[in-house]
Amino acid sequence: MTSRRPLIAGNWKMNGLTADGSSLASGLAEKMTAAGDVFFEMLVCPPFTLISKIADCLGGSGIALGAQDCHANEKGAHTGDISAAMLKDAGCAYVIVGHSERRTDHGESNETVRDKAAAVHAAGLGAVICIGETEAERDAGQTLDVNKAQIAGSLPEGATAANTVIAYEPVWAIGTGRTPTNDEVQDVHAFIRGELAGHLGESEAAAMRILYGGSMKPGNAKELLALADVDGGLIGGASLTVEDFWGIAESV
Ligand code: PGA
Repeated sequence: MTSRRPLIAGNWKMNGLTADGSSLASGLAEKMTAAGDVFFEMLVCPPFTLISKIADCLGGSGIALGAQDCHANEKGAHTGDISAAMLKDAGCAYVIVGHSERRTDHGESNETVRDKAAAVHAAGLGAVICIGETEAERDAGQTLDVNKAQIAGSLPEGATAANTVIAYEPVWAIGTGRTPTNDEVQDVHAFIRGELAGHLGESEAAAMRILYGGSMKPGNAKELLALADVDGGLIGGASLTVEDFWGIAESV
């Protein structure tokens, strides 16, 4: 038996203005408050512009707040960037780092992701480190090798089950409506846990949460979340409505 508490995390990406972001967060806060004690942990990661506003909307609901990225430095001459310390100051408990859209659109390497994760830890926040293979890599039979290399390269020193969550997101499953089979998801998650054990030791690896991400919806969440090494979800599209996101959380 493990004591890993499932994490249901919403990645809003570049979506949300004040009105719709506030109503989404307030709707979730209402559901959470009405639900009382729940087994899962819920996290929402709005765009930077809404973080302070959403912190107010979430209030004392117990839903955690996170950001989608940060800079690796604490402060300084980095126009347009945001540090982990600033995110903590704004009310965040988590920061997503190394999402495939950052790796692709902003050329982020494993080393960049590792430095950002280290900055998240230094600020006292939890890092959600994303990994996952592309479709071409999958077709070439490189799924495990790619994930192995991303773990080795992106995991900072000092990572523990308390300050780090891994999100396995096959790039080809993000926003496409396609997902690997349940067996494939479980196999990759078990492999990732084995790799984590090699880096961090058995007990940290056994306690670390590994989320699945990529076209998770209310309709497929239950079976994905029931897999032995799946400890929650990182959800994009379906985190943008109360009905879908709460529906996923309820299926834990
Ligand atoms: P999706 O995105 O749920 O829309 O596929 C997941 C993600 O990119 O984190």
